[in-house]
Amino acid sequence: MANDLDKFKELKQDEKVVDRSKKLKIGIIGTGWIAGSHINAYKKCDDVEIVAGADLVPGKAEAFFKEHGIENARCYPDHKSMLDNEELDGVSICTYNKTHAECTIYALKKGVHVLLEKPMCVTTEEAVEIMKAEKESGKIVSVGFQPRFDPNMKLVKQIVQSGELGKIYYIQTGGGRRVGIPFPFGTTFIDKNTGVIGAMGDIGCYSLDMVLNAIGYPKPLTVTGYTSDFFGKSKNYSGYIKSGKTAYADIFGVDDFAAAFVRLEGDIILDFRISWAMHLDTPGDTIILGTKGGLRIPSTECWNGSIGGDLVVYHDCAGEPVQTSIPMIKSTVNCFDEKIRSFLDAIHTGGEAPIPTSQILYNQTIIDYIVKSSEAGKELKVEIPEI
Ligand SMILES: NC(=O)c1ccc[n+]([C@@H]2O[C@H](COP(=O)([O-])OP(=O)(O)OC[C@H]3O[C@@H](n4cnc5c(N)ncnc54)[C@H](O)[C@@H]3O)[C@@H](O)[C@H]2O)c1
Repeated sequence: MANDLDKFKELKQDEKVVDRSKKLKIGIIGTGWIAGSHINAYKKCDDVEIVAGADLVPGKAEAFFKEHGIENARCYPDHKSMLDNEELDGVSICTYNKTHAECTIYALKKGVHVLLEKPMCVTTEEAVEIMKAEKESGKIVSVGFQPRFDPNMKLVKQIVQSGELGKIYYIQTGGGRRVGIPFPFGTTFIDKNTGVIGAMGDIGCYSLDMVLNAIGYPKPLTVTGYTSDFFGKSKNYSGYIKSGKTAYADIFGVDDFAAAFVRLEGDIILDFRISWAMHLDTPGDTIILGTKGGLRIPSTECWNGSIGGDLVVYHDCAGEPVQTSIPMIKSTVNCFDEKIRSFLDAIHTGGEAPIPTSQILYNQTIIDYIVKSSEAGKELKVEIPEI
C-alpha cells in the first residue's frame, strides 16, 4: 500500500522548454497589498523589466516601487494614463474588485496581456465583456488563482480525473472563518464601492475553483443563493472590537456569509457555503461524491485555498467499504511565483492563459447569481450572454 501511495507524492509536471530571451515590459495597476506578491515574483524573473505602475492614491505607486527597490519605474495616477503612455507586454491588475473589469478591458484594447487578480470581476455581464475584449484583442487574460499551482490541489484534480470516484453527482464545498473579516490595510474589501462582493469574492471563489476545476468546470444551470452581513454590520463584532475599528460597521456593505445550492451541467449538485465570520469553527470539509467513491478534503480555519489535512478516499473493496488516506504533499512550491511565471511563459510562447477566463466565467457567474438569487428570494436560471 505504501508504494501505491508514494505515486501521489510527486505529480508529473508538464516539462516544456520556453525561450525566455525576450525581456518583457511589465506594468502593475493597483499598488496595494497583493501587488507586493506580484512585484516580488517579477523581481525573480530575469526576463522581466518592471517599467511602470499606477494607483489612484497620490504617491502610492512611487512609495511602492521605492519600497521594493525598483528605480526608474514610471508612475501614473490611474490605469488609463499608464496604458496610454506605455508600450507594455503584460500588466498585473491588482486593483480592488470593483475596477477589475474596466482596467482589464482597457489593457486588452491597448494590446496588453493581462494577469488579473481574483475574483475575475463582480458580475456575469462584466465577465462576458472581459471575454469579448480578450477575443477581439487576441491577447490573454489569466486569472490569479494561485492555489492551482499547489501540488495538493493538483492531486485533488488528479483523483477526480482518474475516474476513481466514478460519476460525480454531489459536491459540498466552501469553508470559512469564525472571526476573519479582512481589513488589514483599510476598508477596500468591506466597502461596497470597492469590494462589491465580500467573503464570496475573497475566499469563496477559491473553494469554487478547487472543485469546479477538478470536475472540468461544468456550466452552472440554476442557483438558489443566500447572503448575509450580520457580523460585518455589527459594532459588537469581536474582530472590530479587538482592533478598535467599530466604525467599520458603518462602512461594511458586502456579504460576510453566503450559501447556495447550484445545479451544474452533467447532473451535478453543488452545495456551497462561505464565511468571513460566524459562530462556528468551520461550515464543513469539502466532499466530492461519486458513484464509485467519495473524497473528503479537510477544511482549514482560515480558508484561503489550501487544504487542512490528508485527503481521504472512501470506496468499496471486494464488497466492503474501505477508506484510503492520501498524505498531504509537503510542498516547496511558491504558488504566487508560479502564477507569475506561468503568465510570463504564456506571453513568450503565445500560448493559452494558464488560468483561462473561459473557466473562471462560471465561477464568477455562480457568485453573481448567488447575489441576484438572494435579492430575488428565489431560485434563478443562469443566463450567460453570447461571447
Ligand atoms: N491572490 C491572492 O491571494 C489575493 C490576496 C489578496 C487580495 N487579492 C485580490 O487582489 C485585489 C486587490 O486586493 P488588495 O488587498 O491589494 O487591495 P488594496 O486596496 O490594498 O489595493 C488595491 C489598490 O488598487 C488601486 N486602484 C483601484 N482602481 C484603480 C485604477 N483604476 N487605477 C489604478 N489603481 C487603482 C487602489 O487605489 C488601491 O491602492 C482584490 O481583488 C483581491 O481579491 C488576491
